[in-house]
Amino acid sequence: MKVLVVGTGGRDHAIAWKFTQSPRVSRVYVAHGNAGIAETADCVNLKTIEEMADFAQKERIDLTFVGPEKPLSAGIADLFASRGLPIIGPDKKASRLESSKCDAKVIMRELGIPAPEFENFTEPGKARDYIRSVGYPVVVKADGLAAGKGSLVCESVQEAEDAVRSIMEEQIFGDAGARVDIEKRLYGRELSFFCFTDGYTIIPMVAAQDYKRARDNDEGKNTGGMGSYSPHPWLDDALVKTIMSKVAEPLIRGVREKYDILYRGILYLGLMLVESGTEVIPYVLEVNIRLGDPEAQVILPRLRTDLVDISEAITTGRLDRIKPEWDPDYRLCLIGASGPTKGKKGWYKGYPDRYKIGVPIDGVDRIDKKCLVFHSGTEKNASGQLVTTGGRVLCIVSSGSTLKQARETALSEMAKVRFEGIYYRKDIGLE
Ligand code: GLY
Repeated sequence: MKVLVVGTGGRDHAIAWKFTQSPRVSRVYVAHGNAGIAETADCVNLKTIEEMADFAQKERIDLTFVGPEKPLSAGIADLFASRGLPIIGPDKKASRLESSKCDAKVIMRELGIPAPEFENFTEPGKARDYIRSVGYPVVVKADGLAAGKGSLVCESVQEAEDAVRSIMEEQIFGDAGARVDIEKRLYGRELSFFCFTDGYTIIPMVAAQDYKRARDNDEGKNTGGMGSYSPHPWLDDALVKTIMSKVAEPLIRGVREKYDILYRGILYLGLMLVESGTEVIPYVLEVNIRLGDPEAQVILPRLRTDLVDISEAITTGRLDRIKPEWDPDYRLCLIGASGPTKGKKGWYKGYPDRYKIGVPIDGVDRIDKKCLVFHSGTEKNASGQLVTTGGRVLCIVSSGSTLKQARETALSEMAKVRFEGIYYRKDIGLE
């Protein structure tokens, strides 16, 4: 069987790697990949979703799996379906759950799913009036897609007003900030919860802890994610049941019955677990329509079941036949990112702000083969040297029967990787 993976980052590398583990797969293509992915699969330089559909048709691709949200929001699933090409990823209508934070919140409210109190605004003045009136700390979110950086967590009224100015008036996220969702800031424990679904059957995956802030101790700006680990210490069977009955099931059923959306593929719930008496309430902070990055890097290595079998069950609406099995051992993912460096015209602050690219990378070949290495932003330059092309550059995924063991391995292996300005958090998995 031939598989096409759409994506270029660490998550997409992990997806491609997982397909190479299947005895049913003879060839994995990735559109368009990076230098690390090119060592796992065949990278193909396809830019538009039409080029991808043409390629899938010409090469007789049996299954396409979409990593990132952008092609899904652009309608890749609808296009492939119209040509009879099996694909994993929700359609364009479903993708509004991720591509519009404002619409997603309204859907949660209409379906009675726990979510923070919120209001949506298209006028900065009204957004500011609201912030001054509510009297509690807020999170200001750009409505559209902003590469995981569009949520500004505010400590004060002034910070929230500044966030409105940056997003709506200075347009730091471009058109994505034409509308904002302003929601009550919740305090609790964050959890990334993933499910496979064919639109009727919903199967929870194991959960992961993501670390969104750039710096240790959850300081610094929001990023796409600086590390992750799984299993999640808080997730037991009772909590899975609560999340399924209060969030995942009403959401998938609700969008099907009320909005005529058959949601097929991956459901990613960004939750805040808030203790209320003896109960834990899973509040939905965000809905994403894909696997997380860097959560996929720790979840997929724990999946013992063939991803082809699961994918086929999704596309044929027979997910009820699947019972995924998981490795109980820990996986920990540590991201090596482009940190502060000096450029010709001054300093680059480093990811998630501006960073230098084309920086030579050494030491990847010295990483212990027991670890997995997934690349996010790398390429080979004209002389064949591995160089940086992104803010998140590569990650190391270690394993261990304890979180401590996995953490120590990832840190000692990452110390072997050298590039100017390399930065990684030292507290991933430090519980
Ligand atoms: N790790 C956050 C995301 O994938 O959106």
